[in-house]
Amino acid sequence: MDRRPIGIFDSGVGGLTVMRAVVDALPGEDIIYLGDTARVPYGNRGAETVRRYAHNAAHLLAQFDVKAMVIACNTATAYGLSSLEEAFSFPIVGVVEPVARQAALVTRTGEIGVIGTRGTVLSGSYPNVLKKLSPGVEVHQLPCPLLVPLAEEGWTDGDVVETVLERYLEPFGQTGVDTLILGCTHYPLLTESISRVLARRMPRPVTLLDSAHATALALESILAQGSLLRPAHEGVSSRGTLRFLLTDLPEGFVTTAERFFGGEIRSYEHVDIIDQSEVPDAH
Ligand code: DGL
Repeated sequence: MDRRPIGIFDSGVGGLTVMRAVVDALPGEDIIYLGDTARVPYGNRGAETVRRYAHNAAHLLAQFDVKAMVIACNTATAYGLSSLEEAFSFPIVGVVEPVARQAALVTRTGEIGVIGTRGTVLSGSYPNVLKKLSPGVEVHQLPCPLLVPLAEEGWTDGDVVETVLERYLEPFGQTGVDTLILGCTHYPLLTESISRVLARRMPRPVTLLDSAHATALALESILAQGSLLRPAHEGVSSRGTLRFLLTDLPEGFVTTAERFFGGEIRSYEHVDIIDQSEVPDAH
């Protein structure tokens, strides 16, 4: 049993969808969430910038003596995971590989769709991981950047979202995709609208997979292997504590954050990120 906290970071509120899955899977753990709300979004930024931001966030969380870290952001995982793994000795779980593993098992046609930010798509991270896991698969990626502000605005269904989705997802109609990875922390909020649009566009049912649950399971298994788990016992008192750190406290933050977290956020703290990390060269 290891009582040290788990660190989770994201560019902003999106990673709270992953935090929810981690809290549900590991209720006994103390968790510190860092949302880099001062520098969100990461999804449209270049690789070097995102990697630097990821190092800054990880250095801040490392000061809390975390026993493991989750990069709860697809773009930061895509550009930063390997470099962070070299820089830190504790286990680090990204959101790309766990869901890719699931997709490789689920697909029947061998054609997997991936939607994400521009950065995630450009990084080629999902196709690289999927091809390693299952060399025969064909991966079709589409960047859908407008879905991030729509989800934050709470516009998760209705005409506007469906029109945007129709436009973005149209190219999948010419493929054999039967499994779609929601490769962005915000997209699980749009699951129902995405399913509706795909049902109209695609000749076959498409299974939607998001990273949150698969990432929580991957974290649990890594903690178990290293004897790092802190199990919850019967009763509320043994539940871990949750701490929310933010680099900016924008107006209306709590309402948006609670929507992503699917629960109450009772308190949160402002922190400054000091951008002094030594960032190793790109890989
Ligand atoms: N968290 C980001 C991701 O999953 C989406 C928001 C952003 O662009 O920062 O890629």
